[in-house]
Amino acid sequence: MRPLPAGGEPGPVITRRSWLRLLAWSAAGLVLVLAALSAYALVYPARMPPAVGEIVENITGANPHPVQLMRPQNAPLSAVALLGKQIFFDPTLSASGMQSCASCHSPQHSYAPDNAFPVQLGGAHMTQTGYRPPPSLAYLYRQAPFSIGPDQGDTDVPVDMTQLATQAAGMQRAQKTALAAPAAAAMVPQGGLFWDGRADTLQNQALGPLTNPVEMANATEEDVARKLLQTKYLDQFKQIFGPSIVSNPSLLVSEAMFAVGRYQIEDQSFHAFTSKYDYWLEGKTRLTHAELHGLQLFNDKDKANCAGCHLSQPSRDGLPPVFTDTQYEALGVPRNPAIPANKDPKYFDMGVCGPFRDDLAKQTQYCGMFLTPTLRNVAERKVFFHNGVYHDLKQVMDFYNLRNTEPAKIYPRDASGKVQKYNDLPPQYQANIDSADAPFDRKFGDQPAMTDQDIQDIIAFMKTLSDGYKE
Ligand code: HEC
Ligand code: HEC
Repeated sequence: MRPLPAGGEPGPVITRRSWLRLLAWSAAGLVLVLAALSAYALVYPARMPPAVGEIVENITGANPHPVQLMRPQNAPLSAVALLGKQIFFDPTLSASGMQSCASCHSPQHSYAPDNAFPVQLGGAHMTQTGYRPPPSLAYLYRQAPFSIGPDQGDTDVPVDMTQLATQAAGMQRAQKTALAAPAAAAMVPQGGLFWDGRADTLQNQALGPLTNPVEMANATEEDVARKLLQTKYLDQFKQIFGPSIVSNPSLLVSEAMFAVGRYQIEDQSFHAFTSKYDYWLEGKTRLTHAELHGLQLFNDKDKANCAGCHLSQPSRDGLPPVFTDTQYEALGVPRNPAIPANKDPKYFDMGVCGPFRDDLAKQTQYCGMFLTPTLRNVAERKVFFHNGVYHDLKQVMDFYNLRNTEPAKIYPRDASGKVQKYNDLPPQYQANIDSADAPFDRKFGDQPAMTDQDIQDIIAFMKTLSDGYKE
């Protein structure tokens, strides 16, 4: 007989030991189940409940809520679009004989210039300088016509902008908040082409550069028609529009412009949606920690709030985001002394209220407003903003971050040493400049909305918006 341990019965000792064993086994089991669960969550983040999805997103960079994107259909170009393509690349249509649409809108640079000049050269002898940097021609396929307030739709009655502007004047401007849909359609300038929205359709727009004295520099529409009659693709015009087209110069030009517009609408390269971000939206790739953090800040209504204007979410029916709300804003970017026209201290490019459009010249509440551009392929651009004042994304980010908090870092000083804030807009219009939306809601001396690390991460995110991503 074994002596009993001092102070008690044998029973409890055995029970405690088996309890410990049981505990060890269940702990091991729990670890196994958890491991299996997290493995499942990592492989199928989309099947996790939202809270878990978010944790998984942060660990893996995968999109917990992938969507099916509705890309425009990839069909072969129509005969009209093929004709438009020839026109787009044809330098013989310019007065200099040296410049085509592609000279300023290079297909290798997402239809923006291939150089870093603030403005491009053009004119009959290629010696004239432009006034604004050419925007990218990509992602314009959903751009509605210019209007004040929501799209007017297709009506035959010409829209009276002055009347619309007067109606809109009594309405309070809605705050722009990332990821929040506005309560009502905003009564603000929106849609249209060019930095100031003065052209409505790609067809109407195309004649602009052909007859602009600082661009392709034809004196008249008839000049353009004469050049078209000498092209090697004239037969295609006859085939598509009938032989009598050659005796109707104004119809010839307008069909040519229609064709250039069709080319930009039909050709996939103008709206490829092949960026890393698109594939991430579809759950096909993962973002790095920096990119994901950048996206979170981009969408954070209290911090960078970029998505307040550069919309980042697909629509409910899967239309991929084009990173603009297509509205106009006055951001007060600094004057660019490198633009020749700016040598005249009385010259101001004020966007919607002129000088290149004149229908809203009296609506001074719009002075300083420019179209919010798409941020797709923005990392491929060489100059930024309507006056090309910046040459890299870090400078752009510093502008957003420090415009209010540390303006001395953004604007030059005058002779007396005073910082010339908003020096590219006459003082009487400076109240139009946005100080309501983050990150512009910070005051002088406040902590900036973004840290240096934040800025680097947002730039990393913007780089995921370039087309042609390959893993
Ligand atoms: C000399 C350079 C130059 C040439 C050549 C040129 N463009 Fe442009 N393009 C510009 C500039 C500059 C702008 C912006 C002008 C503005 O906002 O006032 C622009 C704007 C545009 C826009 C509006 C883009 C937007 O985001 O609103 C379209 C579309 C366009 N061009 C198409 C064409 C077509 C088609 C041709 C050929 C027929 C052409 N361009 C030739 C410089 C050029
Ligand atoms: C209140 C609306 C608004 C907010 C918020 C906003 N932007 Fe913009 N963004 C604009 C407008 C308008 C322009 C063009 C302004 C101009 O040229 O005068 C622009 C231009 C840009 C450009 C230059 C693009 C080009 O093609 O030249 C970049 C880059 C950019 N924004 C990035 C950002 C980032 C990053 C954020 C967040 C930190 C942000 N934006 C927040 C409205 C906004």
